[in-house]
Amino acid sequence: MKFFLDTADLGEIREAVSWGVIDGVTTNPSLFAKTGGKLADFERHIGAICELCPGLPVSAESCAETAEGMVEDGRRLAAIADNVVVKLPISTEALAATHTLAQEGIAVNMTLIFTVPQALLAARAGARYVSPFVGRFDDIAEDGVEQLVQVCEAIHGFDFGHEVEIIGASIRTPHHVTEAALAGCDIATVPFKALKKAVRHPLTDRGLALFMEDWKKVEQA
Ligand code: E4P
Repeated sequence: MKFFLDTADLGEIREAVSWGVIDGVTTNPSLFAKTGGKLADFERHIGAICELCPGLPVSAESCAETAEGMVEDGRRLAAIADNVVVKLPISTEALAATHTLAQEGIAVNMTLIFTVPQALLAARAGARYVSPFVGRFDDIAEDGVEQLVQVCEAIHGFDFGHEVEIIGASIRTPHHVTEAALAGCDIATVPFKALKKAVRHPLTDRGLALFMEDWKKVEQA
């Protein structure tokens, strides 16, 4: 399974890319708002992210409400850099926009996917990436992992005539990362904080402390 970083923070992207584990970046309007960026800076900001990870897919979301608006946004966003993927929250308008953008060779990441039918429709319309959410099910005390398993089974069992990758999204814990991998996700998009947590384990910390302790006992030559 590949790792995308789920953030619009340039510092986080720079650092995680330096670890050599990042295969792409996903952003959304909430993540961009968190950076404190202004609307007028949005496209420049996406360009800066693309420069930090050349050749790796960077999802930039359209907030248009009509299919025409999404297509227009999609074309503009895709012109920022070759590695921009247009992110669209699923709706009938977004399906129509995806159909058009895919025919123009523009990759779409269809987001806010919570059911198998939504995932199948997104892929059928031409989405290159389908993003089922896990954590937001937890928020309403439902099982996001079960949905993820079902989406993976349904999507991987069908030939859509183009490549479709499943991005496990709304991943908030190392446990979600495990579940996404076991469910068969191609990618998990993980916030920086959760990615850092995934590197750690209390037994790793304890083992390291012991190694350091014992190393001090080794006689110096
Ligand atoms: C990614 O594409 C989504 O926008 C993101 O994973 C949502 O995560 P959240 O539910 O933690 O906001």
